[in-house]
Amino acid sequence: MNEIKFQERIDAEKKIEPKDWMPDAYRKHLIRQISQHAHSEIIGMQPEGNWITRAPSLRAKMILLAKVQDEAGHGLYLYSACETLGISREELVQQLHDGKAKYSSIFNYPTLSWADMGAVGWLVDGAAIVNQVSLQRTSYGPYSRGMVKICKEESFHQRQGYEIMAEMAKGTLEQKAMAQDALNRFWWPSIMMFGPQDSDSPRTGNAMKWKIKRQTNDDLRQDFINKTVGQAELIGLTIPDPDLKWNAERGHYDFGEMDWDEFWSVVNGNGPCNKQRLAHHKKAHDEGQWVRDAAKAYAKKQELVAN
Ligand code: 3HC
Repeated sequence: MNEIKFQERIDAEKKIEPKDWMPDAYRKHLIRQISQHAHSEIIGMQPEGNWITRAPSLRAKMILLAKVQDEAGHGLYLYSACETLGISREELVQQLHDGKAKYSSIFNYPTLSWADMGAVGWLVDGAAIVNQVSLQRTSYGPYSRGMVKICKEESFHQRQGYEIMAEMAKGTLEQKAMAQDALNRFWWPSIMMFGPQDSDSPRTGNAMKWKIKRQTNDDLRQDFINKTVGQAELIGLTIPDPDLKWNAERGHYDFGEMDWDEFWSVVNGNGPCNKQRLAHHKKAHDEGQWVRDAAKAYAKKQELVAN
């Protein structure tokens, strides 16, 4: 097959499978995006994991534990999908450790109070749902199927976060203030999860041509904002954007200018927690070497027994 036949296959809405011919550029684009998605899932366990020992009740602890465990599973599905493109897990992790691969900027912000667990579930997983529901229709088979599985669990993640925010917003004045503070700190970083504006997005052109992405960054961001404003109003919290206003003509919310200097600074490694997140990942990875060695030794033994 050649590029013309490949594009005809994409345009005919046929999924591309691991054994199918694909342009090198398509393969490389997917490895970048899927690996960064997988890294995001795993690094994203840190800000929430930070609150498991300090959850305010056994129920809250169990819910948060289950959610963080889900994220590890999401990382597993995505690394596995990425490996079908001919790169090893070891190489992917090394790229992360060498700063050659990114993960979502949102996870470089600190989680300072229990209300942040609500804001993360409600906003970060809420944004992830908008992005990932769209990615269920991505052209690469293993990625698309992984998204279907992940989306089923994301809705629980978003609901548990929103429940925390709703409880606190109708609690004492201090609790409501804590919830509002979390919304103030997580609103803008959450809408930055959708990436740069389309006009400033080097990847979107090919991503849309190859149907890796089905909607652009700006479309998904707008969709998320439209969905979320009413949820904040319902629980009496205020979104920290004075320019946020329903535009009946557009049928969308108008919203304020994002701080793109902050965005690129965090994406390029200079956010509040970038160094801490990577150091923690490296430490955990090194401490887990014995598990990987034991699993490999066991697999080798099984192979010998089988032959
Ligand atoms: N944080 C970090 N890097 C970002 C970013 C962000 N918020 N937004 C964009 N970037 C990176 C891109 O990865 C790309 O990097 P590269 O050139 O090194 O590959 C570069 O900035 C240019 O951005 P583009 O918009 O041109 O790149 P994309 O077309 O890849 O779009 C994206 C960016 C929308 C993040 C897209 O990659 C995507 O949809 N990725 C899959 C979804 C994902 O990664 N979500 C992250 C959160 S996962 C999560 O929240 C889990 C939940 O369970 C909590």
